[in-house]
Order: sequence, then structure tokens, then C-alpha cells
Amino acid sequence: MLKIGVLASGRGSNFQAIIDAIENKNLKASIEILITDNPSAFAIERAKRHNIKHIFINPKEFATKDEFFKKVADELKSCGVELVILAGFMRIVRKPLVDEFPNRIMNIHPALLPSFPGLHGQKQALDYGVKISGCTVHFVDEGMDTGPVIIQAAVPVMPDDTEDTLSERILSFEHRIYPEAVRLFSEGRLVINGRTVKIKEQHGVPSNIVNPPFRQE
Ligand code: GRF
Repeated sequence: MLKIGVLASGRGSNFQAIIDAIENKNLKASIEILITDNPSAFAIERAKRHNIKHIFINPKEFATKDEFFKKVADELKSCGVELVILAGFMRIVRKPLVDEFPNRIMNIHPALLPSFPGLHGQKQALDYGVKISGCTVHFVDEGMDTGPVIIQAAVPVMPDDTEDTLSERILSFEHRIYPEAVRLFSEGRLVINGRTVKIKEQHGVPSNIVNPPFRQE
């Protein structure tokens, strides 16, 4: 069974979506550890409720970012983690972690990459005036939201949207595609070739995009 390690800095609703997928038996995996860089992250409460090991690693205790990420990598390795999930983790990961888990770190971003990387992807989309935004699960490299794309969901932007309403609509799709991407990985169905991630089909159904109905739920 796939052993997962999760890194989170805050609310942890995507962490929860993966917990739920495992508990509902939609995903055959186990979460071995939650690591936070923020002692008041609500994700810690979620870990406690589901008896998941959790540790806080204080970035301030390390002289450099690389040393912090070396410590993170060591903790993940000591738990036998095979796939690292970034779930609202507010730091750009560095070489010591990426090198330890090549093509084995995933992130979710609240926009259709390569559009609107970095912070506040939903506000960037609104300010730009796009009519469709969405969310992206991608493998992580050392750049900011630059790794190979795994799955995307397209989400409409409504004329009266605020950052909050758009974020909420996108989040409901994040909670669908993140567990789905992890499931595809756990089934050995993600084939990476350079920037491209091919999804091996099952029963002839491609599953690399989720299209919502174009109406307000
Ligand atoms: C999500 O919008 C995710 O796309 C972004 O950070 C937010 C985390 O939310 N990377 P949560 O902590 O999973 O609720």
C-alpha cells in the first residue's frame, strides 16, 4: 500500500480530502506522517482526529532553507514515505527534498497552470478577467508551480464572483482531483516523459481533465 507523507501550513482541507478518500476506500494508501511548518495549522487538528502522526518542524531553527528541507526529507524517509503531498504548504521546496523524492512530490494549485502561478491564483485570475479558471495537480520541481501537470479541472468564473466565491468553487474541485491524482499514482498509472504526464487508461476512459457543468451549483 502506498505510503504518503503530507506537508501543510494551514487549514488542510486538501489533506482532509485525501484522508476521506482513504477512509471511503477510494484510495489504497496510508498517511504515515503530517509535517507542518506552522504550529497552529488546523491540519494538525485533522491529523489528531484521524490518529495520524504529526510533527512541527520550526524553520527558524535552521540556518538555511536547505537544512530545513534536509530535515523534512529525513523525517519522511524515516517513516518510509513513497509519495509526498503538498497540501497548502506555503514554501517553495528545495533541492534536498526534491532530490530525495524525484517525481514523487505532488502539489495542488488553485489555477490552470501555467497561468497564474504563485500566491493568490484565484485573485490573479479574477483580476485578469479570464472566464475559465480551475485547479492543477502537478509534480513538484524546484521552481514555483512549474513541474509536470498531472490533472486539471476547469472551473467557470462567474460575472459576480469575488475572490472568496471563486476560491470556494475551485476548492470543491481541488478536493476531487487531488485524491484522484494520488489514486492514479498509487495504481502506477502516471507515466512521466519530460514535461508530459501520460495517464494509462483503464477501460478506455481518459481521466486527465474534469469538466464541471457550466452553471452555478
Ligand atoms: C488551496 O487553495 C491549494 O490550492 C493551495 O493552498 C490552498 C490550501 O488549502 N495550494 P487547504 O489548506 O488544503 O484547505
